[in-house]
Amino acid sequence: MNERSNIKKAIFPAAGLGTRFLPATKSSPKEMLPLVDKPMIQYVVEEAVASGIEDITIVTGRGKRAIEDFFDISFELEYELRKRGKAEILEQMQMISNMAKISYIRQKEPLGLGHAILVPRNLVGNQAFAVLLGDDIIDAEVPCLKQLIEVYERYKCSVIAVQRVHDDISQYGVIKPRHLENNVYQVLDLVEKPSPDEAPSDLAIIGRYILTPEIFDVLEKIGTDKTGEIQLTNGLRELSKRQAIYACEFKGKRYDAGNKLGFLQATVEFALKCPDLGREFAQYLASPELTALIAEKIGSPASSRREIISIESS
Ligand code: G1P
Repeated sequence: MNERSNIKKAIFPAAGLGTRFLPATKSSPKEMLPLVDKPMIQYVVEEAVASGIEDITIVTGRGKRAIEDFFDISFELEYELRKRGKAEILEQMQMISNMAKISYIRQKEPLGLGHAILVPRNLVGNQAFAVLLGDDIIDAEVPCLKQLIEVYERYKCSVIAVQRVHDDISQYGVIKPRHLENNVYQVLDLVEKPSPDEAPSDLAIIGRYILTPEIFDVLEKIGTDKTGEIQLTNGLRELSKRQAIYACEFKGKRYDAGNKLGFLQATVEFALKCPDLGREFAQYLASPELTALIAEKIGSPASSRREIISIESS
């Protein structure tokens, strides 16, 4: 399918300040925070490449040079690794700089996600393209973006990734869906960060999109909202009045690595899956020391179980 897919280009908005991770992000980009041993952005680039993307534009801002260095060739490091006979790690380093064709463009003003997508307009041209948000790390058997591309190939219109969310719906863009088939919906309306009473459903937008190029004209026209930003969700709302937009309820686990708790959850679960680390890490998680630390915070699992049983039987 990849060979036949028309979706070859992707935009990665990465100009955000990462304020939720200060002071760690004071002098290094949030996208470079490591989940176990890979920076967050590498997971997302790998997902894009595994979905058939060949050309990536990362929209950066001030203080993001480390991202460019990461995907570049490091002659000194490669020379040293070769000299020390570290063939395996050398190959991994070369793989990173060969993954895709990556270019960079700066978003000079923090005018929101819709604006970040307008910045590389000329590089994308008049074709459908993907957008991947680096805070959303998705662990899936079939890469999430590939699932969206499969829907795009059937319907040839914009496709948004969605997932059911039960808490904090007002942190997301939310769609009003009309069920079409299996896990595919037509998007009848979209609201950015609605209050729980105003949310049109529990299907929240997750940071993966396939967009038709008509989105650019719409984003140029809609202007900023009351927060001073050009919202992609508002652009999609306008676009949905002109052409059909579909949503794909993808299969996979999504981590909100843009906040500390989600980042830690991803770290723990990815570490458990690591071939060289997983077993030892699992032993640590199950160790009496850690169980005691956890019990100090929330009580022991045994005592919580006893509480549940006594509530149920009373
Ligand atoms: C952005 C989008 C929002 C979407 C979310 C997914 O919000 O504006 O519609 O639900 O990403 O992560 P942000 O998290 O950047 O505020």
